[in-house]
Amino acid sequence: MGTEPPTDAPVPPATALRTTNDGPLLSVRDLSVRFDGREVVSGVSFDLSEGQSLGIVGESGSGKSTVARAVLRLIPAASGRVLFEGRDLLALGSRAMREARRSIQMVFQDPGGSLNPRMRVEEIVAEPLRVFRLAADGPTLRRRVQSLLQRCGLPPDAADRYPHQFSGGQKQRIAIARAIALEPRLLVCDEPTSALDVSVQASILNLLTHLQRDMGIAYLFISHDLAVVRHMCHRIAVMRRGMIIEHGTREEVIERPAHAYTRALIAAI
Ligand SMILES: Nc1ncnc2c1ncn2[C@@H]1O[C@H](COP(=O)(O)OP(=O)(O)OP(=O)(O)O)[C@@H](O)[C@H]1O
Ligand SMILES: [Mg+2]
Repeated sequence: MGTEPPTDAPVPPATALRTTNDGPLLSVRDLSVRFDGREVVSGVSFDLSEGQSLGIVGESGSGKSTVARAVLRLIPAASGRVLFEGRDLLALGSRAMREARRSIQMVFQDPGGSLNPRMRVEEIVAEPLRVFRLAADGPTLRRRVQSLLQRCGLPPDAADRYPHQFSGGQKQRIAIARAIALEPRLLVCDEPTSALDVSVQASILNLLTHLQRDMGIAYLFISHDLAVVRHMCHRIAVMRRGMIIEHGTREEVIERPAHAYTRALIAAI
């Protein structure tokens, strides 16, 4: 790939890779994904601006997670482009992709499953910093982890405990602390509160809202729950059977839905 640096070059800081890009932070164009010859995502296109939230909403099996996974290159796309800061992630070599992953983090539905049960919380949250060699072990790293935990509403002694010692909501806070450790510009959240009690859901959504305001992170926010998406997102895309059938600002989609399917989702809130 033309964008791939030679393998012996030192890894440049993420900022050095930032291209001058006045367009959206993330721009997906005509993305299609096939499983076993069946197209489960077809011609999906959307834009996400820096520091904003785009909600993708739709029924189970509509292809929301598949879009997220293809954007993150966890699964291959059949066709399309995923422009992040103006560069097509789908065309990046492995080294450049690794560098891009510093700026793109994710939070999943099952907080327990995404945390290694044998690692202490300190190790879990410090791992991205270690992997990208952004902090050496020792007091500085420990302070950094403490500050991330505090920012995510966890008590200071959380660092020395193991994931099973926390509630579902606290586990999701740990996963979020790990996700923001590298100060990403894009956070992909796939049903981040769907496994949690309603009361806990609200506190996690508030945390995400505060982090977005303070850190300017853009969210690609996936949920089957239009009420959650309405609460969180500046723009909304409605997916059905692998396609985006409607998208616009929150007000446009909620107050003037063009599609009968969207009207049914709104009626169900
Ligand atoms: N690894 C896979 N292999 C084959 N088919 C898959 C795979 N992953 C997903 N699918 C299929 O792709 C379609 C879209 O699935 P996807 O998980 O993206 O939906 P979703 O909108 O995220 O649903 P949910 O709300 O239940 O999470 C479904 O028909 C699903 O069965
Ligand atoms: Mg899903």
